[in-house]
Amino acid sequence: MLLLMLVAIASLGLCSRAGAQPLCRVRTVRTGKALKDGHQTPRNVLYSSSVTTRLIKHPCKKNLALFLGRQLFFTAENFEGSLSPLSIPPSMQVGKPEVTSAHFADLSLLLVVNKKVYVYNIKKRIWTASTGIKHPVSHISGDNCCYGMHFICSDMSKYVFAYSHGDKISEANVYFSYNWGYTFVKYRILQGQALPVGSLGGVFNLYSLSQIGVLLINQQKAKFKYSDYPLNHSFGLPFDYNSTLDVIIAPGQKGILIFWSEKSLLVSRNSGQLVFPVQVQEKPATLYPSVFDAGITIHAVAANENELAVLTREDNVYYGSLGILTNFIVKLPHQNIWSQQAAMMFSALGILEIVTPIPDSEFPAFDFLKCLVNIQAVLMDPQLKVDVCKVEVLEGDFDNKMYTIDMNSKLELTAVMIPRPGTSPVPLAMVSNPHSLGLNVFNQEVDYTYDGNTKHRLKISLKQQQLWGRADPNFTSSIKKPTMSTITVDIANKEISCVDLQPLTALISIGCDLKKKIVVQKEISACYKGYLDPVALQDNYSYVIEKEAYDRSFRGQRATKDLLVHYPYEKLGCPLLIHYDRPWKPVVELWREGKFQEVVNAEYVMLEVNGLFTYTYSLTADSAMCNSQPQNWTTIRGKARGRPFAWDRENYMSCHQYIKDSPLRWPNVPYQIMGGPTDNKIIFDQRNGIYVFLISIVDPYYSYCHLTTIFSVYVYGAFPLPFSWPEITIFLLMSSILLSVWLAYMIPKQLHTEEGRRLRGYWVSLRNRCRRSCEYFQCRH
Ligand SMILES: *[C@@H]1O[C@H](CO)[C@@H](O)[C@H](O)[C@H]1NC(C)=O
Ligand SMILES: *[C@@H]1O[C@H](CO)[C@@H](O)[C@H](O)[C@H]1NC(C)=O
Ligand SMILES: *[C@@H]1O[C@H](CO)[C@@H](O)[C@H](O)[C@H]1NC(C)=O
Repeated sequence: MLLLMLVAIASLGLCSRAGAQPLCRVRTVRTGKALKDGHQTPRNVLYSSSVTTRLIKHPCKKNLALFLGRQLFFTAENFEGSLSPLSIPPSMQVGKPEVTSAHFADLSLLLVVNKKVYVYNIKKRIWTASTGIKHPVSHISGDNCCYGMHFICSDMSKYVFAYSHGDKISEANVYFSYNWGYTFVKYRILQGQALPVGSLGGVFNLYSLSQIGVLLINQQKAKFKYSDYPLNHSFGLPFDYNSTLDVIIAPGQKGILIFWSEKSLLVSRNSGQLVFPVQVQEKPATLYPSVFDAGITIHAVAANENELAVLTREDNVYYGSLGILTNFIVKLPHQNIWSQQAAMMFSALGILEIVTPIPDSEFPAFDFLKCLVNIQAVLMDPQLKVDVCKVEVLEGDFDNKMYTIDMNSKLELTAVMIPRPGTSPVPLAMVSNPHSLGLNVFNQEVDYTYDGNTKHRLKISLKQQQLWGRADPNFTSSIKKPTMSTITVDIANKEISCVDLQPLTALISIGCDLKKKIVVQKEISACYKGYLDPVALQDNYSYVIEKEAYDRSFRGQRATKDLLVHYPYEKLGCPLLIHYDRPWKPVVELWREGKFQEVVNAEYVMLEVNGLFTYTYSLTADSAMCNSQPQNWTTIRGKARGRPFAWDRENYMSCHQYIKDSPLRWPNVPYQIMGGPTDNKIIFDQRNGIYVFLISIVDPYYSYCHLTTIFSVYVYGAFPLPFSWPEITIFLLMSSILLSVWLAYMIPKQLHTEEGRRLRGYWVSLRNRCRRSCEYFQCRH
């Protein structure tokens, strides 16, 4: 193999035609090239047969991008180097190397090649064929989240759909991956719903709405059908679908979807519920209602979180904002840049790059013609007659961050807007998922800036929709299920020239706040009272549970032999001290980030982890006022195959509501749920010893977290005998006094008889025996 390295060359060229305002500066990227002697057979070089080009940029890893045209190019440096066309190793045996769809799933590049899915691991540079897909597929879809390292955000990239575009809905084969596309399982779309007629236009995980959306096509119209409540009973509004539309999920989880083909361009700002054609401004004051009406042919489309750009076959670039209430694209000054292989991407905010690969007759690696458009500068062209931006500042420290709202908590954010003097733009805040997240905004004109502008402070308050207490039940999603939403603060009818003034967005997880913990209050520990020795407990302490008292299978049956249990002191510390005779319930506290929050009043359940069953509950199903048969550890265990502790908010059902399948048939069974509306307590058997309890909050409306903890108690006072030594001493003393009185009366009468002499001998021996045992008691006590 001949390897030839060339010194890096990057040539710069200016390309502006006389008289016209240049759109961009064109330069050629040409760097160190490796010549390989036919090592790569043409069979393996990937290609796309689409007449349009696509440039897929990784939304989080800004330098990763894939060019999809007559050849494919994968870059890890934003096309700042010459590249050989992407090929797939012969060992993958793809057959025809035609690519129909591509997607970045974190650090995996997924391609549909010849109707099968392949994964390229970017870090390890390894190709893998996906497993689990049994039918040919044409498309893959997924999303990436760039709001930080929280698992809810990073997990998004793991989920990928694969499907065949155009399949009949009723027969569609859809697959789902939980691991960046390495393995897929069959996925039933719209489970539990009647399948509508039509063909499949796509399946998308719409995180901004916490729904899976299925695009249905029927007779030149398309509409979305959603998976989950409350949207499962309705469709999105239909829109025209005349030719296969490519769907771009704009980054940022704001619910922006872009649909395009050569002759149409549509945008939705609410995950497909409403889809509108994008209007086209050819000249100032000439606005066409759609791409079709403007008579243009789209060649490539680029989008980032807030911006949209279009390159047409007619060799023009159009630019638009994806902001709230703006829905048009403006034609930018002309420059010859179009070619069959030209593609586009936003490399930064307001920076558009038109990238064209150019073959090199001597080397297999292609060079790239790059044309960099500074949108803000171009829009300043007076001929475009673009209005100046009315806003000078829009700021909020929540921008691009992620927050969690658990049940019963709220979030307050602040944004600041400073308008241009003499104008009064309207700030707007919007949530992408109004079914779960409620929003209140207070606009305060707080003070003035140094140049006399009013400074507006927006106070934004976010809560679960249900907790505002004004939500329509048809409007709110199931509160039990964690959901997600974004909040965006923008300016209504913002001028297209506000390129540098981008909306503020934060991702809100309406779910478990991982910083929450529960702790059982320990008033008196068994060590403090001297019942247990902390030194001994720390020294690999173990204790024996007698076979009559426990069952490792948690069925309440006696075991066959005693159990030696190690006491994990490091985890549990000293046990809580409880008198066996006192009905008891723990005081459960909620803590967050090491700070006490409140005493938990929600319902919870408890289980002794070693299987001890020598305790019961003070209430029965009947006295707990159940309307249906309450769940118990036995019924839960029966359903949770092998997981003995799996009673939580997901499977808990309150017996206080009427459940049709489970009428109250055994009213006398112990009621095993504590806390909440009842005053249920634990009643211990007459047995002293250590109990290690697992406690699990089961109330589904307390928190999205599975709040559990383990703690220990020491039950005392039950054995030996329920009375103490002083009482025995008094009893014996009293008996002997009475006996002496009786004897003092009887003996003088009886001493002279034969019987009397025998009795005297007995009395002497009794006195001696009593003295011995009393001395014994004295020394023990
Ligand atoms: C929508 O979901 C709710 C709750 O999950 C369910 O009760 C209802 O039957 C579903 N509706 C349809 C049309 O599937
Ligand atoms: C702790 O005790 C158990 C049995 O009682 C024994 O098997 C184990 O080796 C002990 N560990 C230590 C660190 O002494
Ligand atoms: C658990 O509940 C079932 C009925 O749902 C009942 O038959 C059973 O006796 C209960 N078990 C206990 C230990 O209370």
